[in-house]
Amino acid sequence: MLNQPRKISHSDSIISQFTKQAVPFLRMSQHSNQYGLNLVVKLSDPKYDDTVLDVACGPGIVACEFAKIVNHVIGIDLTPAMIEQAKHLQNEKDLHNIDWRVGDVSKLPYKDDSFSLIVTRYSLHHLINPSEVITEMYRVCRPGGRILVVDVTPPEVKKNAYNYVEKLRDPSHAEALTFIELKRMVESKGFININTESQDLEMNLESLISSSFPNPKNKDEIIRLFKKDISSDILGMKSYLKDNEKYFFFPVSLIVAYKPKQSI
Ligand SMILES: C[S@@+](CC[C@H](N)C(=O)[O-])C[C@H]1O[C@@H](n2cnc3c(N)ncnc32)[C@H](O)[C@@H]1O
Repeated sequence: MLNQPRKISHSDSIISQFTKQAVPFLRMSQHSNQYGLNLVVKLSDPKYDDTVLDVACGPGIVACEFAKIVNHVIGIDLTPAMIEQAKHLQNEKDLHNIDWRVGDVSKLPYKDDSFSLIVTRYSLHHLINPSEVITEMYRVCRPGGRILVVDVTPPEVKKNAYNYVEKLRDPSHAEALTFIELKRMVESKGFININTESQDLEMNLESLISSSFPNPKNKDEIIRLFKKDISSDILGMKSYLKDNEKYFFFPVSLIVAYKPKQSI
């Protein structure tokens, strides 16, 4: 009997994609953009006695930012190469209050009510079941604590086109939700006192493509769609040309939400 080719799971695709992306992701200045990191900190208002969990922490950029302020941070991610980069970044920044763990965030390996602040940035659109992860974030959040969710949120009418081009550009992309869908998902878990912010994150198309490893046969189609976005905004990414290079903006939303002090 012939061996059937093994079906690639979504987790395999995440690990394969983010093993390639680990170094370029960390090096891309936009991901360490101080304006965005300041927004993250301002909205979640960390204090020294907070214990922070960074869910799908990647190369640890956000975890390291919190570690400058709070007592202790844990970062967890599925991709070992990302955790390796996170350890380098921690050493570079001479931070001693972070622990890293390789693991799947759809079942967080922590007890109920373990953390006072739980963050996740740019991760939910890579997950097949983001709702399950927010349920887990609720479970491990201490009563009175909060979560911060940061992700790309395309406008409702552009959502299909946005997800189509993003899947071509990055095969590990699952689905970006709209801001309303994301906020409702957070509210549906029982979180209260929601506060939000938004950011248009500027990107250079060529440098993003070269750090996200799309299937080479899709590159022309990706460029064609971004070109079309310049004249007709079909993707909701406000693409434009500068010095003959294509730029666009990721529509980013930030949502902070509190777990009630007493269960309701
Ligand atoms: C775009 S990166 C974002 C990294 C980081 N949060 C940041 O903002 O700098 C997405 C990360 O999600 C991780 N990831 C995706 N699915 C995951 C899962 N099920 N469990 C844990 N990590 C996951 C990937 O390995 C990758 O490091």
